[in-house]
Amino acid sequence: MNNWIKKLFIQRSDLFLKLMNERWPRTEALVNGMVKVLNEFGITSGNLLDLCCGNGRVSIYMAKKGFKSVGVDLSKAFIEDAKKKAQEHEVSSSVTFLEGDARRLKNVVKSISQPFDVVANVWTSVGFYSEEDDLNIFKQARELSKDSAILFIAETMHTEYLSIKFTPTSYTEIDNILMLENRKYDPISAQMNTSWIFYNKNGENLRFMDKVDIEHHIYSTQELTALLRKAGWETVALYGNFSTLQAFNPLTSLNIVAKAC
Ligand SMILES: C[S@@+](CC[C@H](N)C(=O)[O-])C[C@H]1O[C@@H](n2cnc3c(N)ncnc32)[C@H](O)[C@@H]1O
Repeated sequence: MNNWIKKLFIQRSDLFLKLMNERWPRTEALVNGMVKVLNEFGITSGNLLDLCCGNGRVSIYMAKKGFKSVGVDLSKAFIEDAKKKAQEHEVSSSVTFLEGDARRLKNVVKSISQPFDVVANVWTSVGFYSEEDDLNIFKQARELSKDSAILFIAETMHTEYLSIKFTPTSYTEIDNILMLENRKYDPISAQMNTSWIFYNKNGENLRFMDKVDIEHHIYSTQELTALLRKAGWETVALYGNFSTLQAFNPLTSLNIVAKAC
C-alpha cells in the first residue's frame, strides 16, 4: 500500500475523519439527486455497492431511501465509525460495512450473494493507485453487478478544472484543527502532489501536529470515461453536481452516470 494512503486513512484516520464529517450535512441532497437519476432508469430500490465508502455517508443515506447498501473501505477506523453512524441513523439492518481493499473487491464482498443494482464511488476516490488498479476495481464492480446496473462517480476532481483554476494553497479549520494544503500539479503526468499539514490551533498559536504528502493521479473526463468503458461501464450522462443536477462544465466537479454494458 502507498505510504500516504496508510498514513492518511489508517494511522491518522482521526484527522481525515474530521474532514469526512464535514461532508455529511450535504449528503442527503447528493443522494436525493442520485435517486432522481436512478428513477429515470427505472431503479427505485435494490443493492448498492459504495466503493471506498469512508465512514459511510452515501451508504447510510441510500439505505434511508430504501436501498440495501454495502460499503467497502480499507480503513478499520472509518468502517467502525460507519457502523456506529448506521446505528445512530437507525439503518443498521439495511447496511453492511466491510473492511477491505477495493483492489481485491470480489474477495472482500464474497459474503454478499446478491448482484448490485447501483455502484457509487464518491469524492475523488480514484487515481490513488495505478490506472491498471482502477481498471481492475471497476471491472470487478461490473462483474458483481446486474446488466441493468448504474455506476456513479461523484464529486471528483478532473484535469479540465485544474487547467483553469489551480489553487496552490488553501486551508480548512475544523474545531481546533487547522489543515493547510500545499499543492503541486504536473499537467504532463496529471499527477497531483499535496502536502497536508495539520496544526492544533489555540487562540493565535498554531502547534504542528502532522504532515502527510499525498500523491495521486487526476483523470480527465475523457480518460476516466474511456477507462470505465474498458471496465464495462458506458457513460450516459455528466453532471456538475448531483444535488442540483446542474450540467457539467470545466469548473464544476466531475459527476458521471454510467450504465453497465
Ligand atoms: C476521499 S475519501 C472518500 C470517502 C467517501 N467516499 C466519502 O465520500 O465520504 C477516500 C476513501 O478511499 C478509501 N480507500 C483508499 N484506498 C482504498 C482501497 N484500496 N480500498 C478501499 N478503500 C480505499 C480511504 O480509506 C477513504 O475512506
